[in-house]
Amino acid sequence: MKSIMSPLDLSTAELDELMDTAEDIMANPAKYAHACDGRLLATLFYEPSTRTRLSFEAAMLRLGGKTLGFHSSDSSSATKGETVADTIRVVSSFADICAMRHPKEGAPMVAAAVSQIPVINAGDGGHQHPTQTLTDLMTIRALKGHLDNLTIGMCGDLMFGRTVHSLIRALIRYENVKFVFISPKELMLPSYIRDDLLTQNNIAFREVSRLEDVLPSLDILYMTRVQRERFFNEEDYVRLKDFYILDKKKMQLASPDMLVLHPLPRVNEISTEIDDDPRSVYFKQVRYGMFIRMALILKLLEIKVD
Ligand code: CP
Repeated sequence: MKSIMSPLDLSTAELDELMDTAEDIMANPAKYAHACDGRLLATLFYEPSTRTRLSFEAAMLRLGGKTLGFHSSDSSSATKGETVADTIRVVSSFADICAMRHPKEGAPMVAAAVSQIPVINAGDGGHQHPTQTLTDLMTIRALKGHLDNLTIGMCGDLMFGRTVHSLIRALIRYENVKFVFISPKELMLPSYIRDDLLTQNNIAFREVSRLEDVLPSLDILYMTRVQRERFFNEEDYVRLKDFYILDKKKMQLASPDMLVLHPLPRVNEISTEIDDDPRSVYFKQVRYGMFIRMALILKLLEIKVD
């Protein structure tokens, strides 16, 4: 039984295999419609979510399985003091697989250590969000055709953005990927990513604060929102929240082939005026997320569909 805490829990060959399966599901949904008949997915969300929880649920339902769970710690026995470890021991008696989101870094790992069923980290604090990374990789591969030889800009809250941290870890395994990190100085990458991961592994990267200066050089622009829920004071959040706003004028500086991704939800950092630009693929990205989660559920439940 395997759990997924980080994108590094999957080799690049396994990632390719998952993306191939997800593409096959997209092309042949009927073939997979009963693959999980009789199976149950538990969604244990101690923190709010729209996309991740609903796409896990949609994924299991489209595979013929069923779902159960809670969508906030307030509606679970966490309010009475039950630990994550005890909760997963209980849920292991009911479900076949579980997706867990928690505000504390490492909480899904604590669950996985005692669980009788596979646990998928659906986002832990500012740490990691591996299924968002699978979604991002699949979007890039499907729309660009490859994951190597790319210049990838990551813009916004690089300090607290767990999707950024997970995606960097996954992308450094591909050949000739260069990063441009675009953030205000208060929201630069944490040193455990910049120094311990990128510098130590001789990965090419630049850190800048002006988006306009680097837009023409990017193949991918990964926008992120400023993570209000991780700030210690509201004043700092208010000062930084509109630091970047990607609009039509800025998009004129970008290559006609650049893709704009965003894990969503967006706040103000992408103007709705560029939603119809063919380079804006953040809503396509959401859909890829459901198919890659379907592929992941099949893999972790060791279900093969011929
Ligand atoms: N991208 C993402 O994790 O969205 P949710 O917070 O809505 O799940």
